[in-house]
Amino acid sequence: MAKLQNQIAIITGSSSGIGAAVAKSMAEEGATVVINYPVDAAQQMAEAVKNEIIAAGGKAIMIKADVSKEAEVQQMFADTIKQFGTVDILVNNAGLQKDAHFENMTLDQWNFVIGVNLTGQFLCAREAIREFLRRGVDEKKSKAAGKIFCMSSVHEVIPWAGHANYAASKGGKAQERSFPELNGMTCGLLTHAFLRSLEETPPDSQNGVSSTAIKQYLLSTWADVCGSIPAVEPEFISPTGPDIQFSATSKQVLQGFKLTKAPATAIRLDISDALRVSVVQCYYTPTAATVTWTGQAAIPLVVSGLRFFLKLQPGLYRCVVSGDMQKSVPFEATGVTDVDI
Ligand SMILES: NC(=O)c1ccc[n+]([C@@H]2O[C@H](COP(=O)([O-])OP(=O)(O)OC[C@H]3O[C@@H](n4cnc5c(N)ncnc54)[C@H](O)[C@@H]3O)[C@@H](O)[C@H]2O)c1
Repeated sequence: MAKLQNQIAIITGSSSGIGAAVAKSMAEEGATVVINYPVDAAQQMAEAVKNEIIAAGGKAIMIKADVSKEAEVQQMFADTIKQFGTVDILVNNAGLQKDAHFENMTLDQWNFVIGVNLTGQFLCAREAIREFLRRGVDEKKSKAAGKIFCMSSVHEVIPWAGHANYAASKGGKAQERSFPELNGMTCGLLTHAFLRSLEETPPDSQNGVSSTAIKQYLLSTWADVCGSIPAVEPEFISPTGPDIQFSATSKQVLQGFKLTKAPATAIRLDISDALRVSVVQCYYTPTAATVTWTGQAAIPLVVSGLRFFLKLQPGLYRCVVSGDMQKSVPFEATGVTDVDI
């Protein structure tokens, strides 16, 4: 059975670019996809994506909705649920830029980008989570009550002159970490939605997006909530010796990470706990010295060349690697060193 058989996926802004590639990839995996587009001018492109999916044997419909408008988002979810019974997957992809030097940026430019990129993701995620909570887990379809992907950008963490509104909209995606904890059900909230290949894609380019790369990435990240856990690749990340001392207020263990070689291109490591709650993210550039950690600043970290030492509570974790080396590596912080004060 295809991985996403009988699952209903809304992909916002999927008449072009990355969204269109995601829609095709998900349809290939058996999902019924909703191709969302914002305005009449984009209808023809949406139609082309839909026709391509249907010609390949997939299932797709189109819904016009501006994700920055609450009523239109609610209508899109209501129409989808009316037609298919539920929504299983949301890909929060719609996004745009309105660039200007900071001193010249108008309030309209600022509000427009924040409205689509940030408020739009909130409005769609809220409707999706309401539906996941209403329906609960359907074991026949998935271990998760639902899945949400939010397209981000390296500018979630890296400032970008002339694009303050865009960088702020992506940085504001920290809202994802506030998604509700859904007790008693598995709800996969997958937010590692950035690919190296996407970074290199011109924003308005349709052909530059590799649907294979996207598919590989999506499958590697959602495998843990939809199916089997990807194989561990111990040569990539392995515990290292406890040669750093930390002081701590609670019992924690020292976990070492080691890159076997410096990555040729920038990569991001997202470390999350067993509940998929992001613990820390690291943006790692080819020059090993420039490692930037974001996330919980309270978690001490020491970087030494290609080795990282992070203090964690004992337990199960997962390290998702974005970039050329796309991998999802489960690991257990077992207690190389106990730090107990
Ligand atoms: N291409 C890149 O290099 C890159 C890098 C980092 C992040 N991203 C992110 O990836 C996502 C997709 O970008 P893309 O490169 O495919 O660009 P794109 O312009 O091809 O796609 C954006 C889509 O969003 C749609 N859209 C715009 N406003 C909308 C609204 N109000 N409601 C619904 N849909 C709306 C557009 O019609 C378009 O189909 C964006 O969130 C973007 O910020 C892209």
